[in-house]
Amino acid sequence: MASHVILYSTIPADLQAQLAEKSNLTVVDALRGGRDAEVRAALAVAEGMIGVNEKVDTSILDLAPQLRVLSTISVGYDAFDVAELTRRGILLLHTPDVLTETTADMILLLMLGVARRATELLELMRQGRWRSRIGPDLYGTDLYGKKVGILGMGRIGRAVARRCHAGFAMEVLYCSRSASPGAEEAYRARRCSLGELLAEADFVCLTLPLNEKTRNLIGRKELATMRPEAFLINGGRGQVVDEEALIEALQQGTIAGAGLDVYQREPLPADSPLLRLTNLFTLPHAGSATRETRHAMARVAVENLLAALAGRAKTNLVNPEVLGPASGCPANGCSAKGCPAKD
Ligand code: DGY
Repeated sequence: MASHVILYSTIPADLQAQLAEKSNLTVVDALRGGRDAEVRAALAVAEGMIGVNEKVDTSILDLAPQLRVLSTISVGYDAFDVAELTRRGILLLHTPDVLTETTADMILLLMLGVARRATELLELMRQGRWRSRIGPDLYGTDLYGKKVGILGMGRIGRAVARRCHAGFAMEVLYCSRSASPGAEEAYRARRCSLGELLAEADFVCLTLPLNEKTRNLIGRKELATMRPEAFLINGGRGQVVDEEALIEALQQGTIAGAGLDVYQREPLPADSPLLRLTNLFTLPHAGSATRETRHAMARVAVENLLAALAGRAKTNLVNPEVLGPASGCPANGCSAKGCPAKD
């Protein structure tokens, strides 16, 4: 008999049809903390769930006693308490790889956007204020030949390094838990301490996941270490940066500017002081938001879910230990801490 599955996000119609054909599917527009009767009824029998952008915490899990598989349509899995899922024997799968290049493109857009003052120039155009040759008050900064400091040399970090090295002849510094000999060889990347990176880089580029170690990693002290000509770029998770401290640094001009795709609170409240700053290039968490990539992410998440429900999950496992020590995690693409297949 087909497994009961809840889809709690919008996915492309072809993928939803595939899911409906292979499972007993309930579609809800949001989980709403399980307060809604329709959601509660679906949770009571759900063996699998697929979606993104919702906290799936104990208030939901307690309502879903049959749940075996959670498939998130994202690479990040900070919306889940992984230890708690593992304790309950619930397998979590995510979608790495398919969004790497698209997200790296967006990080370059953040770098270029803030360095070339795209927001102010666009405003000038849209408001019909372009009357003369752009002068020093609106001059930008070159990326070409500058120094980028990448925090977190994972898949996205390496894709950013490749673009900076090959496209912009930039010197690449990086700070990461483990060395990346591949990036060192291919992009002449130099591994250094966080302090060195902050003090030296023209562009401090965050590609870190959110966890206990990275939460508020960039605060007042770290921002004060950056040079006044340097830019902070965040394409990972907003909570890695102390936003109040960043606003202060931007207002006081102790750093030159920031390019942000992610925020402490999302969607960013309309009255956020960030939106009043001119030395900021800001986007609405759109790193993976292209037609091709969002389709690929949803496809991988559907495949992950169906494979796991059928007991065939091999890739993209966040907590492979749920499958038991004997099964290990022999596949590429696994992101679990300590997993031998993690790259
Ligand atoms: C992710 O997949 O984690 C990105 O933030 C895009 O949502």
